Amino acid sequence: MTIKVAIACDHGGVELKAYLKENLQEPAIEWLDLGTDTTESVDYPDYGYKLADAVASGQAEYGIAICGSGIGISIACNRNDKVRAAVCTNTTMAELTRIDNNANIVCLGARLTGDLLAKNIVETFLTTKFEFGGRHERRVNKLSN
Ligand code: RB5
Repeated sequence: MTIKVAIACDHGGVELKAYLKENLQEPAIEWLDLGTDTTESVDYPDYGYKLADAVASGQAEYGIAICGSGIGISIACNRNDKVRAAVCTNTTMAELTRIDNNANIVCLGARLTGDLLAKNIVETFLTTKFEFGGRHERRVNKLSN
C-alpha cells in the first residue's frame, strides 16, 4: 500500500529533505514535495503553513516538516487546528506521538538530527498506528474543540 506524504522545509532542511525522499523505502510513499529546493534563505512559516494546509485538506495523509531545529516550522504547522505536529529527536518520540497524539506531521531539526536517525524517526512515525477508541482518542478530540 502506498501512502501520500507531503514534505516541506526551509533552507536549513533542503539536504535532509532530498535524503529522505531518496532513502525512505518502507512504507511505499507517493511524495507531495512543497519545497523549498535551494539553500537561498526563506521563511519557515511559509513552508509550515503550506504543509499544514496539504495535510488538513487531505491532499496528504501525513507531513514531514524540516527546519534547522524543527521547532519554528512545528509552531507554524500547529497554527492549523486540523494539524498535530510533533518535533521528534528520537524514534520513541515518533512512536509515542503517533500512539498517544495521533500526530499527522513529524518535524525534524536538520541541524540537530543526522540523516540516518531522521530516516528511522520518519519510518517509525509512518508505520505506527494511533490507539483509537480509548483515552488517547478522548484527549486528542479535546485538542480540536
Ligand atoms: C533558519 O536559519 C532557522 O532559524 C530555522 O531553520 C529554524 O531553526 C527555526 O526554528
